[in-house]
Amino acid sequence: ETIAVIFGGRSVEHEVSVVTGLQVMENLDPQRFTPLPVYITKDGVWYSHPEFTKVESFRKDRLDSTLRAAYRVHWEPVPGNVLRLESQEPAERRGWFAKAKTPEVQEVRVDAVIPALHGTYGEDGALQGFLELTGVPYTSAGVVGSAVGMDKIVMKSVFRGCGIPVVPYEWFTREAWERDPDAVVARLEANLSYPMFVKPCNLGSSVGISRAENEAELRQAIEIAQHYDTRILVEQGVERPIEVNVSVIGDETASRASLCERPLSWEKFLTYDDKYIRGNFNKGTGASREIPARLPDEVTERVQALAQQAFHAVQARGVVRVDFLLTEDHQIFVNEINTIPGSLAFYLWEPAGMPYKQLLTELIDIAKR
Ligand code: DAL
Ligand code: MG
Repeated sequence: ETIAVIFGGRSVEHEVSVVTGLQVMENLDPQRFTPLPVYITKDGVWYSHPEFTKVESFRKDRLDSTLRAAYRVHWEPVPGNVLRLESQEPAERRGWFAKAKTPEVQEVRVDAVIPALHGTYGEDGALQGFLELTGVPYTSAGVVGSAVGMDKIVMKSVFRGCGIPVVPYEWFTREAWERDPDAVVARLEANLSYPMFVKPCNLGSSVGISRAENEAELRQAIEIAQHYDTRILVEQGVERPIEVNVSVIGDETASRASLCERPLSWEKFLTYDDKYIRGNFNKGTGASREIPARLPDEVTERVQALAQQAFHAVQARGVVRVDFLLTEDHQIFVNEINTIPGSLAFYLWEPAGMPYKQLLTELIDIAKR
């Protein structure tokens, strides 16, 4: 079976997505699957190249030449699973392709798609809508689940509506901030207490997020966040929070939860740098973590049950990671759901006996049901 692994993309999480995509291709069961790498540039152009399964192809000094030698991927938004790969260069200048005697145009039938994309256009329902038009099975949540999971404000109101505990929060538009920042600050200070976390509504991997301890920091944090999005979310911080994450796999009717993890290395909260830049390509996201998290059994069970509720509340499908904040006395809040988690959260399943290979096979089987 040919599995198109789509990664990169028009997102601030582009680099993280390259890591996830490479890991997926490396771990697909070779007995059953052949990966077709589909790399989307930061400008949104789709390319394929056999060398895209290797990390070296994405080194800054190599990427331009790899892209020149790659096929452009054409896929029409009509029912059909055939991708048309067209080489961009005349035969004599086709480098790798000329040597391998590959044709200038190839048509590849794909059996399923693994979207290994994080953030805008890949995790937010946009790609999922396109894949729905083609009718090809894919391993992530559908349009609704993806869109709800990416929009932090909609996600919170869905959780609230389902009785899932979330921290107190407020939200406002960039336009409201520009019109009357004092009124915005007054409302936030009236309804929430410091520390507060200020977040652009739609980004992941902690990009654009800051912590504010006082009014000056709050104003500065909003200025940062409003560069990234037109809607801004402000959450009340939890005192000395215990961060706990858990993965859920399933479909609309059934799900199960993984072990819980407790990420350990962060400054005041987990930043993009902590999560990915100091990480490495082989070991998940590289952050140090305690798995399973040392928590009383009943807390673990409650977290796992809430994670499954959150999964079904947004209509997720496939594998997700639900992030929690716990107070010292183990009051539990769902912070967010990631419908395409970094590394597909394989590191939460592996220690309990489900290797990455098996996780991917199960995801493809779920997608095809
Ligand atoms: N958005 C990143 C990839 C995550 O939360 O895992
Ligand atoms: Mg996230």
